[in-house]
Amino acid sequence: MENIHTTVLRSEVVDALNLKENGTYIDATFGFGGHTKEIIEKGISNIKVIGIEVDKEIYDNAKNLFKSSKNVFIYNSNFIDVADIVVSCGLDKVDGIIFDLGTNLYQIKESGRGFSFLKNEKLDMRLDLDSDLTAEKIVNSYKREDLERVLKSVDERFYRPIAKKITEFRKKKRIVTTDELVEIVESVKYRKGKIHPATLTFMALRIEINQELENIKKALENSLKILNKKGRLVVITFHSGEDRIVKNFFREKSKEGILKIINKKVILPARQEQKENPPSRSAKMRVVEII
Ligand SMILES: C[S@@+](CC[C@H](N)C(=O)[O-])C[C@H]1O[C@@H](n2cnc3c(N)ncnc32)[C@H](O)[C@@H]1O
Repeated sequence: MENIHTTVLRSEVVDALNLKENGTYIDATFGFGGHTKEIIEKGISNIKVIGIEVDKEIYDNAKNLFKSSKNVFIYNSNFIDVADIVVSCGLDKVDGIIFDLGTNLYQIKESGRGFSFLKNEKLDMRLDLDSDLTAEKIVNSYKREDLERVLKSVDERFYRPIAKKITEFRKKKRIVTTDELVEIVESVKYRKGKIHPATLTFMALRIEINQELENIKKALENSLKILNKKGRLVVITFHSGEDRIVKNFFREKSKEGILKIINKKVILPARQEQKENPPSRSAKMRVVEII
């Protein structure tokens, strides 16, 4: 598998972790292991990394990539199970956790699972290939009001006409490809500027299928159970729905005296990084420390 993903905020994430000798860190969205590699390359003695990756295809590749790294242990699991994974490693607590949310570029461009509106593929969009819910199932079986709810959750202003068109289209023919979905969206929404009209529809389906927003909340709650005092939690989000959850969670827990917010303002990739890696433009990083 070719690594076409460029790790976002690579050094900023690792600096934010405040690495220490003998520390154990979790890379909860392992992908191609860019952040883990940066941790290992710091050369701090006796550091361990536990990696978590939900996508079996990406996990198999990651195991292979890191097969000679004795201090990296990778699990094919959902990050909501972060606390159980730590226990199963025979550990109590860890010193830092990274969440670099969303999908990697391989999944979007090469996995053939219909994540992109730019390629005609089957409507799947699952990260966890063992789960039952696919994009095809949603567009062909969700009631119109449920489709509206899903689209509205990413602030798609055309949620009503798109949902209506989906239900009309499927009466004539089952919707099975990304091209069919793009055709439906484009029949009610025109391109404005650079952004493709189907961008939000595809994002909304991906979030619904993979329960991304619910999972973030659960994973953050579970992370607090396993972080040592002074342990750091570093989260990179890629859209406002994700960032809102993380920001509110951190504010709430800070008021409860559980953690302190390290960066009052979100950390964004430097201009140079944004230029070299355009997907990094929507990244926002937040860092907290357990007290
Ligand atoms: C933005 S990529 C991370 C890239 C990684 N930091 C790197 O440098 O290669 C997000 C990764 O997290 C994985 N992922 C998404 N949701 C997950 C979840 N709930 N549990 C575990 N892994 C998840 C995706 O499959 C994807 O590989």
